[in-house]
Amino acid sequence: MPDLYAVIGNPIAHSKSPLIHGEFLRQTDQDMRYEALLVPLDGFPVAVEAFRKFGGRGMNVTIPFKLEACKISTRLTERAATSQAVNTLVFDDDGILGDNTDGIGLVRDISSNLDFMITGKRVLVMGAGGAARGVLLPLLEHQPKVLTIVNRTKQKALELYQRFFEYGVVIPVGYEDLSGYEFDIVINATSASLSNELPSLPPGIFAAESLAYDMMYGNGSTPFLKFARQQGATHLSDGIGMLVEQAAESFFLWRGLRPETGPVIAMLRPET
Ligand code: ATR
Repeated sequence: MPDLYAVIGNPIAHSKSPLIHGEFLRQTDQDMRYEALLVPLDGFPVAVEAFRKFGGRGMNVTIPFKLEACKISTRLTERAATSQAVNTLVFDDDGILGDNTDGIGLVRDISSNLDFMITGKRVLVMGAGGAARGVLLPLLEHQPKVLTIVNRTKQKALELYQRFFEYGVVIPVGYEDLSGYEFDIVINATSASLSNELPSLPPGIFAAESLAYDMMYGNGSTPFLKFARQQGATHLSDGIGMLVEQAAESFFLWRGLRPETGPVIAMLRPET
């Protein structure tokens, strides 16, 4: 019987993970199966335990269960512990290892696929929810000159500062504090694009040759990317590369192999 893996969430129908991992397992010729599991909002721990007992080897976890996945893990990697969010579970004889591959996925997409250097740069992360929390440590490990966290509710940016200040130069601000400052990399980790909204960014925040990165994907250009283009950002990216790279890191944790991500990103983004 092939080794069993799944992505678990609610909703799950639109998840691209089965497609991505299907490509990875074809590429690497692995004897494994990967499926999507829809579970009720109050049924996460029971579903994970049932899948594990049935012989499941690992899972990807998506909305809204990343915090619960952190709680049911018996061990956490540092990047999962600092972000308090888990998107990858590994089931082994010692229990359940919880990891978070979102941040490394973002950093690989920026530094390898887009060939954009993070070290020494002025980085702005918009948002202070789970998505932002998941990417801060891997970004700080690349030693940006400064990592500014901006959030509508400033208090949440302050809380993230308290959690991450020992890893680098972190500055928490509100949108009204951004006027007059420029950034080389601006990452949208808010959920604003989901509702077609644009956080209230002042003009002039994009430095020459800057990158605007929206962690959202799937609906063409977002209000944030449109704003960034108008404001002169020269490099624009949606989150498809991050999605594929985080999946590749999960695959590596499970199978010890690194699939090629380029062809899968190209498949999901046919226009490039
Ligand atoms: P996720 O897990 O996707 O990060 P979340 O934890 O609900 O979701 O966080 C959503 C983030 O997007 C928050 O930082 C939120 O700002 P607040 O903390 O002030 O609520 C941010 N956000 C959502 N819509 C926004 C908008 N229209 N403008 C600015 N920020 C927005």
